[in-house]
Amino acid sequence: MKNIPDLQEKIIIQKEIIKGIKDLPPYPEIITKAKKAIRSQQSSIGEISDIITNDPALASRVLKLANSSFYNVANQIGSIKYASQILGLTTLGQIIETASLAPLFKEDLKGYAIKPYWFLKHSLFTAFCAKKICSVFLQGYEAEAFTAGLLHDCGKIILSPWIAKYNDIYYSLLEKDFTPIKAETTITGIHHGQTGYAMTKIWNLPYNIQLGVRDHHKQRFQANEKFSAIIKIANLFSQIYFDETNTKPGEFGEINSVFPDIEMSMETIIEISTLAFEYTQETLNRL
Ligand SMILES: [Fe+2]
Ligand SMILES: [Fe+2]
Repeated sequence: MKNIPDLQEKIIIQKEIIKGIKDLPPYPEIITKAKKAIRSQQSSIGEISDIITNDPALASRVLKLANSSFYNVANQIGSIKYASQILGLTTLGQIIETASLAPLFKEDLKGYAIKPYWFLKHSLFTAFCAKKICSVFLQGYEAEAFTAGLLHDCGKIILSPWIAKYNDIYYSLLEKDFTPIKAETTITGIHHGQTGYAMTKIWNLPYNIQLGVRDHHKQRFQANEKFSAIIKIANLFSQIYFDETNTKPGEFGEINSVFPDIEMSMETIIEISTLAFEYTQETLNRL
């Protein structure tokens, strides 16, 4: 078994990590364009439709998702224009975002030993929960919460080769009760929230999203950090629902201890989780 990297090795690793972040493909321009058009009051549905239909492969993925039974639409959606009228621009924006970013989540995260499609499933579930929680506790931030939820673990893409290289150490640290974040930091000097933060910063995403990604494993939040707390809670929803942690069943109560103002009844938690599961399954089947 290799030794835990010393300071010198950590510096080399971090230089490589920074290089990896700089070499990332740019954030899909189509998402930025579509979102800008959606936000702009003057934009017509036709303009958004033109943006998407310029990319036929994406347009067909968007239509496939728009026809998900999750949205419960009576008639087949055959055009982007019709999708925007039936589903609304916000939902259409999220579908465009999901369709454009999906390839990122199909990455095989070597080192983290996760099941195929876990990354995509976990990201979709977290995005849905973040949006839902925001619609009650931080209205007006739903779209940003969806993006932050979707991207919250993207930093794992950058760290994955290093976790794979030091896999024995990573798992021996977890066995010693290190949290994954602490194990990552012990090996590389940085954790996936921080690499995710750097990615979203390079992609020029809104600051809220950068912080939500960076802090989704943080222990305590200040009063002005409600958005980040919501991303953490949404991640917990997914971890607990799919039993991805050592959390014993029935510990959904942990959700209510993250942020003072955010308290949900068990019925609400189960309702959000059930809907998130349905959304995730339907979306996975169509990506
Ligand atoms: Fe995470
Ligand atoms: Fe996560």
